[in-house]
Amino acid sequence: MILPPDDAGIARAAEILLAGGNVALPTETVYGLAARADTEAGIAAIYRAKGRPEFNPLIVHVASLRQAGQLALLDERAELLAMHFWPGPLTLVVPLRDGAPVVPAVTAGLPTIALRMPAHPLMQAVLGKVGLPLAAPSANRSGGVSPTSPEHVRVSFGQEAPAVLDGGVCADGIESTIVALRETGWQLLRPGPIAEPAVAALLGDAMPATAERIEAPGQLARHYSPGKPVRLGAQLAEADEFLIGFDNIAGDCSLSPAGDLAEAAARLYACLHEAAASNRPRIAVTTIPELGIGVAINDRLRRAAA
Ligand code: TXA
Ligand code: MG
Repeated sequence: MILPPDDAGIARAAEILLAGGNVALPTETVYGLAARADTEAGIAAIYRAKGRPEFNPLIVHVASLRQAGQLALLDERAELLAMHFWPGPLTLVVPLRDGAPVVPAVTAGLPTIALRMPAHPLMQAVLGKVGLPLAAPSANRSGGVSPTSPEHVRVSFGQEAPAVLDGGVCADGIESTIVALRETGWQLLRPGPIAEPAVAALLGDAMPATAERIEAPGQLARHYSPGKPVRLGAQLAEADEFLIGFDNIAGDCSLSPAGDLAEAAARLYACLHEAAASNRPRIAVTTIPELGIGVAINDRLRRAAA
């Protein structure tokens, strides 16, 4: 079921969520499969629908800094980052507040919580209408390619597709940057639209990300998989390859003919979905510059190829 991007669609989405159900909602990054964070049933339904391993905690979306403060302990660093980047594609991993109205499955039992205030007007409208924080991982089957359109959500879930609030194509197209605030510094858990130097300009250099515990499935080597072998750094396609191009390498689907990295990020998952659906058994991707949001694009491509 597609919900229209108007007052009626927003009201219906809010109604389903308040009743403890799931709705796929557009954000500026990717579509999220949402449920109220304080209710076991809706959260369990997210894990079930995604086929998500239970050690993978969810991002909680908030409407305001005040709402974030009810869920987590926010220090000056968190407030500084929120001031600069919220609403927007930055997720903060911060200490969970005692007694926060969030069921344990949301944080997978961790003493921390991942919070983000999204910028998409439809997502904000639903958050406002529901009046509660919404947990929402990307609206795709676990391990698969993230959705940047209602059609991607439908294809990923098939018969079991949830209601989708139609926000068209996501502008950023790649998941939020995840920053963990630790006692002694900060770590980049997932590169995203907000590049590391922009965070470092406010907080100083990052600590190395520790690999001893998987905290972000974005950190699992194999993720974002289109279900076919993926070869990186290709200049030319072999006969059985679908080529994803960039800049002056056109390919079968170009991330950006003009060589624009923001456009490439916005089109990355659409091209991977198209490559997955093509009749060619293998996928090749040309070289993407490791610059700005190119870092996040290459991170996703390496995992798609793993
Ligand atoms: O842009 C986004 O962040 C999208 C949209 C829908 O907001 N959401 C998204 O969610 O990408 P998901 O579930 O696909 O990725 C959430 C990431 C995972 O890598 C998860 O492990 C990490 O956030 N995460 C959640 N809670 C965490 C925590 N307490 N500590 C460390 N990582 C956490
Ligand atoms: Mg995901």
